[in-house]
Amino acid sequence: VPDEHVFKGVKLHDGMLHEGSEEADIYDNLELTVDDCIVASYPKSGTTWTQEIVWLLHHGADTDKAKETTLTERFSFIEMIQQIRKVPEMLPPKLIKTHVPYSSLPRNYLNNSTTRPKVVYIARNPKDTAVSYFHFYRANRAYGLYKGSWSDFFEMFINEYTVYGCWFKHVVSWHNFAKMEPNILFLKYEDMKKKPTEQIHKIATFLGKDIDKEEVLKLTEHTKFESMKSNKAVNYSSSERIDASVSPFMRKGQIGDWKNYFTVAQNERFMMMYEEKLKGTDLTFEFE
Ligand code: PPS
Repeated sequence: VPDEHVFKGVKLHDGMLHEGSEEADIYDNLELTVDDCIVASYPKSGTTWTQEIVWLLHHGADTDKAKETTLTERFSFIEMIQQIRKVPEMLPPKLIKTHVPYSSLPRNYLNNSTTRPKVVYIARNPKDTAVSYFHFYRANRAYGLYKGSWSDFFEMFINEYTVYGCWFKHVVSWHNFAKMEPNILFLKYEDMKKKPTEQIHKIATFLGKDIDKEEVLKLTEHTKFESMKSNKAVNYSSSERIDASVSPFMRKGQIGDWKNYFTVAQNERFMMMYEEKLKGTDLTFEFE
């Protein structure tokens, strides 16, 4: 990856925050209120999907309005230098996207336990996350249009070399904090996929947004994979960073695609690690 560097203990890439910069200062001093919302995740876990639902719940389920502007403009992805700059001027509710581990959140969040914004964290089973990340590495210019094989990438993923580092530490730590902090909602991609209506309801209740049955159905339809794949406002088709001819951002949107990539040996190694790292937590994932 070109220009890889470490910020607050997290590996980041080109265009993202550097320690000691002006933007890092904006990041640490980020002032958010209880009416703002952060969507957090390890990359490739269903962030975009969750962002679209969260935006709609904050904007009266207005799907027409959602289509007018890209998600990149409707949220601020705070590790990106260009995007953190716009946060102080954003109108409320400020909607934030981040992939940082819990301990790398802005200092202002970590220090102010009384005025924290709501956080919706989304996690996806790590085998599908790894496969999705592999394709994202291949198609994304910020990752140097990665040319390695799946087995190269698999080694990077399990050895914590990927941007944002170790999946296990990320998810376990966020899961622990979600148990202690009522302002954090911990969701799973597989639940969203299997019971979208129920999960949208859950997010609405968490955000304190009234939503009727009809609106929930409208959001379910608007945010299903096929709809999002063809929606320019969310599918990153206008992003200059992504070469969709290598792999589109909205790639497959399924549970279980890992089976097309993991060898039997890789799966055995991975599952040993999985059992070990999640031992003592009540965290479980469906792999299908
Ligand atoms: S990013 O770049 O980290 O913000 O990516 P992220 O949005 O977290 O993850 C992208 C993967 O999520 C899939 N996706 C969906 N799946 C099901 N339903 C909906 N609505 C949906 N929207 C996005 C997307 O296709 C990527 O997964 P893969 O497996 O690569 O298809």
